[in-house]
Amino acid sequence: MNKPLSVLITGASSGIGAQLAADYVAKGYQVFACGRSAERLQNLTGVTPVVFDIDDREQVYQAGRNVASLISAPLDIIILNAGVCEYIDDARQFDDELFARVIHTNLIATGYCLAAFLPLVAKGGHLALMSSSATFLGLPRAEAYGASKAGLSYLAASLAVDLAEHDISVSCISPGFVATPLTDKNNFAMPMRISAAQAARVIMSGIEKKQYAINFPRRFIAVMKLLAWLPKRWWHKLIRLQPKANSGSGTSKGLKK
Ligand SMILES: NC(=O)c1ccc[n+]([C@@H]2O[C@H](COP(=O)([O-])OP(=O)(O)OC[C@H]3O[C@@H](n4cnc5c(N)ncnc54)[C@H](OP(=O)(O)O)[C@@H]3O)[C@@H](O)[C@H]2O)c1
Repeated sequence: MNKPLSVLITGASSGIGAQLAADYVAKGYQVFACGRSAERLQNLTGVTPVVFDIDDREQVYQAGRNVASLISAPLDIIILNAGVCEYIDDARQFDDELFARVIHTNLIATGYCLAAFLPLVAKGGHLALMSSSATFLGLPRAEAYGASKAGLSYLAASLAVDLAEHDISVSCISPGFVATPLTDKNNFAMPMRISAAQAARVIMSGIEKKQYAINFPRRFIAVMKLLAWLPKRWWHKLIRLQPKANSGSGTSKGLKK
């Protein structure tokens, strides 16, 4: 009998990652579901939970060793999806600690995961990094989140070149708004928001086709790209017409797009 295909997903305890984990299990994959919350990972049926904090380099390395001891063949897919969002509410009183925190979890810790898990990926395997459509345009209060995701997009582009010669393909995933427990806390309009189930379908289909850029929903991306193409002063005027999101619930530790 053929061995089942395998996928490792970080940030699998909630939102898009949890949906991906469930959908890959349904497709017969062996799923390594990663997160800090053992309790929430236990709620996922049919996965192998891998509990660690991606901010802690030693824990990530230990998780790499644990997964290596559990597999009989290299992994087919890795999806580095875990991430956080915090907003810079006042750019003039720039919160450098918040900035460092977000860059650490979203970007630096992705480096830890690459070091720990990439050696476990099969030739012909696939790596997907979770960026965001926020990278297409300078968005208000997204200095930390947007910069971390722009870093991830560049990381994906560079890895795509270097890993090609090792026969590992790469995807850069850039979603618009997806309904997840933490976007539910956002206190501003989230146009064209889609469900985590819809997002997972698009991501899995993109990964199956080994598509580099997995950008969705299409109409939202088209609007973002059109706005990015406008002269900057037009965009600044347009964004000033929007009601300001205040620093209420969901604006500090909430996770947005
Ligand atoms: N929702 C959107 O609209 C949207 C749009 C574009 C991009 N994204 C990106 O998609 C990814 C998933 O977001 P989501 O919306 O599904 O949010 P979510 O429901 O909050 O899920 C975030 C996941 O990241 C994990 N995580 C956070 N910090 C971690 C840490 N230090 N160590 C280990 N795991 C950690 C969480 O696990 P634990 O709490 O168990 O640790 C959780 O499973 C994020 O990278 C986000 O930036 C989301």
